Amino acid sequence: MCGIVGYIGRAEALPVLMDGLRRLEYRGYDSAGVALLNGGSIESRKAVGRIANLAEAIQQNPVHGKTGISHTRWATHGGVTFENAHPHSDQSGRLALVHNGVIENYQTLREQLLAKGHQFKSQTDTEVLAHLVGEAVDGAGNRTKAGLVEAVRMALRQVIGTYGIAVIHADIPGVMVGARRGSPLVLGIGRDEHFLASDVSAIVAHTREVVYLNDYEIVAVEAERFDISTVSGSGADFQVSTVEFSADAVDKGTFPHYMLKEIYEQPNSIRDAMRGRLSSEEATAKLGGLEMTNAQLRAVDRIVLSGCGTAFHSALTGEYIIENLAHIPVECEIASEFRYRNLPMDRDTLVFVISQSGETADTLAALRESQRKGHRTLGICNNVASTIARESDGGVYMHAGPEIGVAATKSFTSQLVILTLLGLLLGRIRHLSHAEGRTIISEMEKLPDLVAKTLELDAEIEKVARKYARANNFLFMGRQANYPIAMEGALKLKEISYISASGYPSAELKHGVIALVNEETPSVFIAPQDAVFDKNVSNIEEVKARKGPVIAIGTEGDTALAKICDDVILIPHAPDYLTPILSVIPLQLFSYHIGVALGCDVDKPRNLAKSVTVE
Ligand code: F6R
Repeated sequence: MCGIVGYIGRAEALPVLMDGLRRLEYRGYDSAGVALLNGGSIESRKAVGRIANLAEAIQQNPVHGKTGISHTRWATHGGVTFENAHPHSDQSGRLALVHNGVIENYQTLREQLLAKGHQFKSQTDTEVLAHLVGEAVDGAGNRTKAGLVEAVRMALRQVIGTYGIAVIHADIPGVMVGARRGSPLVLGIGRDEHFLASDVSAIVAHTREVVYLNDYEIVAVEAERFDISTVSGSGADFQVSTVEFSADAVDKGTFPHYMLKEIYEQPNSIRDAMRGRLSSEEATAKLGGLEMTNAQLRAVDRIVLSGCGTAFHSALTGEYIIENLAHIPVECEIASEFRYRNLPMDRDTLVFVISQSGETADTLAALRESQRKGHRTLGICNNVASTIARESDGGVYMHAGPEIGVAATKSFTSQLVILTLLGLLLGRIRHLSHAEGRTIISEMEKLPDLVAKTLELDAEIEKVARKYARANNFLFMGRQANYPIAMEGALKLKEISYISASGYPSAELKHGVIALVNEETPSVFIAPQDAVFDKNVSNIEEVKARKGPVIAIGTEGDTALAKICDDVILIPHAPDYLTPILSVIPLQLFSYHIGVALGCDVDKPRNLAKSVTVE
């Protein structure tokens, strides 16, 4: 949700900023802009729409400098217009600021500034912050590095809300100031150059040495040095970390889209989610990051899983998996509802928040609310050093590598693997025998190969997708753990192709949904060979009796489905608790190919952003 890149050093800033913005475009793509410090003045270029539009604007009107800040926007306050594009300036026009987050009290602050004679060019909350910093610089008359830091500090003390910012001032060359609260900001350390970014993927091509800033920290960055302090004025300890992945991991490689690349990465990402976490000897899973003893885990009598969107669907699937393997009651709560619902939880309830980005505002709020109530709250995150990863009381990393496509794919299957590991661990502490644990482990170890085999169905799935690409409405149906997979299939299709789609438990058909069935509305049934196969078949018959086209996801060797369905995709056999990891893959590919067939921008669907850092 908005991406920031800043550079200060000996090289031209623009190529670094533009490359970084392209890598952060998944965070928002309503408008983009840069501001560079050059010979005592700041020059900005902005454009509505994609980074490509900004590149074109710069080609027509080049800009230079060795210090610069830049931004790609996902609009919150103020429409998608040129005026609202960042960077924003202060009253003097000598300062430029980019911001990711929301200044909640911006109206009050804006009115106070207007009363003092300030004039605003945009409708954004960010411009208010730029004016506050500029006013503090001008008021103190201290045009030094320390003066700029102090001005940022004074401004930030007045704002309520979230921010990741980068600021430069024409009268204070040689320094760029960054700060964060609630929105991520990372400092990249180079040789005689430094970087600021919302996400390491923007700068990993230049450096893998980084400092993840904490909330309320301010960093003054020069080419050769940096100083970190806090908004309250004290010094701050920091730790230099090395980014785990290389620049290649954030490239598309030979794939036409990140989404397809990430779907194809699943044999590896699933392997990485399990790596080092399965013990054949003890026939259980090892999840050291939970930081809980077996006795503590044994005392858990209820689990709450919370997340948003796709992560919530993994929670719903996890409910089936954990209850099946561990016999512990699991409840799922959409993160945005969690903090307003006042969920009754007893002392031995263990809470997990699930988030690929680790920055989703609603999920973070659920984490904090759960902790406020005194519950041990663990995170299942992909993004190492994300806010959720850092604030949770422990957890499990997905190790899925960067997920750039806006639609979540590989992170979903990694989440399912981790929830299965959790089910195994908790089950083995309770009723699962050593032999049962060994069987589960050996089934899990086969998963990467089964996923690779499922991916071989791609061409077949593409054919089916093209056949139905013009439908206006889809129904997705499944039972048991495949019911949330039906919801996930519907969500993928909606976001990638803008086709209306909904996911239901198959039996819900006759309670209303069947009214939607007609010759033009395809139904996708997830009907593997499991305990409820016959029930699914009955529901398929009900749809067929009303002339609804049916696409079925079945199990290899099945011959019954082909007799009643229009199209059948057969995935490898796996135990019930692992089938969702396989059955979701054809649905990911199905949405992808429909999106491509319709000419949609599958990596950057309209109105969406990868990381939703506002409530
Ligand atoms: C769907 C999608 C979103 C995210 C949701 C949570 O494809 O990507 O629904 O799953 O915004 O994001 P994280 O997992 O980053 O908290």
